[in-house]
Amino acid sequence: MSKVLLELKDLTIKFGGVTALNGVNLKIHEGEILALIGPNGAGKTTVFNVVTGVYQPTSGEVLLHGKSLKGVKRFNITKMGIARTFQNIRLFGDMTALENVITGTDVHKKSGLLGGLFGLPRARREEQAGRDKAHQILEFIGIDEYSDRLARNLPYGVQRRLEIARALGTEPKLIMLDEPAAGFNPAEKVELAKTIKKIRDAGYTVLLIEHDMSLIMGISDRVAVLDFGQKIADDLPTVVQNDQRVIEAYLGVPSDAS
Ligand SMILES: Nc1ncnc2c1ncn2[C@@H]1O[C@H](COP(=O)(O)OP(=O)(O)O)[C@@H](O)[C@H]1O
Ligand SMILES: [Mg+2]
Repeated sequence: MSKVLLELKDLTIKFGGVTALNGVNLKIHEGEILALIGPNGAGKTTVFNVVTGVYQPTSGEVLLHGKSLKGVKRFNITKMGIARTFQNIRLFGDMTALENVITGTDVHKKSGLLGGLFGLPRARREEQAGRDKAHQILEFIGIDEYSDRLARNLPYGVQRRLEIARALGTEPKLIMLDEPAAGFNPAEKVELAKTIKKIRDAGYTVLLIEHDMSLIMGISDRVAVLDFGQKIADDLPTVVQNDQRVIEAYLGVPSDAS
């Protein structure tokens, strides 16, 4: 199996009386699509928040290429190669689609604000490179025709895709998608599945939170299941699909009930 890119090690996070994650161990390998599933409130989004440095774990740690991310600031975690999208779309509504993606590319800029203001050569070069890159990404995601439209005026499905494009703008190694197909009809889901595969085939590693089982089964290399903050399964999609504990978690039936 390929190298481990990201590892959650005995990760626990408590919010007051709520244990959102409880001793979770999880490895994400380079180049795979790993689906993270589980009922609402299971802790899936919390995994993204801990990995991106929004929250510090109560105990345990997150390792990127074997190195702990403890205390690393959010901005630097992004720079190190981890990007995400949000369950509830968070775009800059008054910016164009292109500008939203450019804000992603900005994380790697070397020229400072003043360089930009005074139009210094390096700043100008970087700005042009950022625009070119943003266009390439929009094209890759299939929404370049919307590049000059304000994000808030875009159709819902395009906004969801734009979130992915913006995340790719940061040049991640790992892209984490939080319910990217939420609100999609079956045809849109099929298209999104193709896009996610294309992202993986382009060399990215994908961590995908999703509820739609047929989407997950179609594209995931592996599926990890959370329930009440604990990992209850982690295996090939076909194995997880038939796992009794997973079925019970989804149906809400305790394992000792008949
Ligand atoms: N910032 C927070 N403060 C308090 N409780 C939180 C916070 N974030 C998440 N939780 C709680 O942690 C649990 C897991 O939430 P979440 O990770 O959003 O679940 P999921 O994405 O699987 O639906 C829930 O009980 C949720 O209410
Ligand atoms: Mg969530």
